[in-house]
Amino acid sequence: PKFTIIDKDTCIACGACGAAAPDIYDYDDDGIAFVLLDKNTGEIGIPEELIDDMIDAYEGCPTDSVRVSNKPFHGNPDRDE
Ligand code: F3S
Repeated sequence: PKFTIIDKDTCIACGACGAAAPDIYDYDDDGIAFVLLDKNTGEIGIPEELIDDMIDAYEGCPTDSVRVSNKPFHGNPDRDE
């Protein structure tokens, strides 16, 4: 499975990820994105039918704050680096 998480420290609230993948990403009161499925812990595998949207969001984020990995993030966006 694929996992995703938002680095909330670098997200600039541009809004592209939720537009590309509204079933995966939403925004907090400040417009900072997070992953809906697992409260941005990056621990729940993304359903197959949402993978294309996730990739679109990953490729579209201007600050590389959308992270994607084959392994769970356990809350740490830099875990896969
Ligand atoms: Fe933030 Fe990037 Fe989404 S800047 S709102 S994580 S597209």
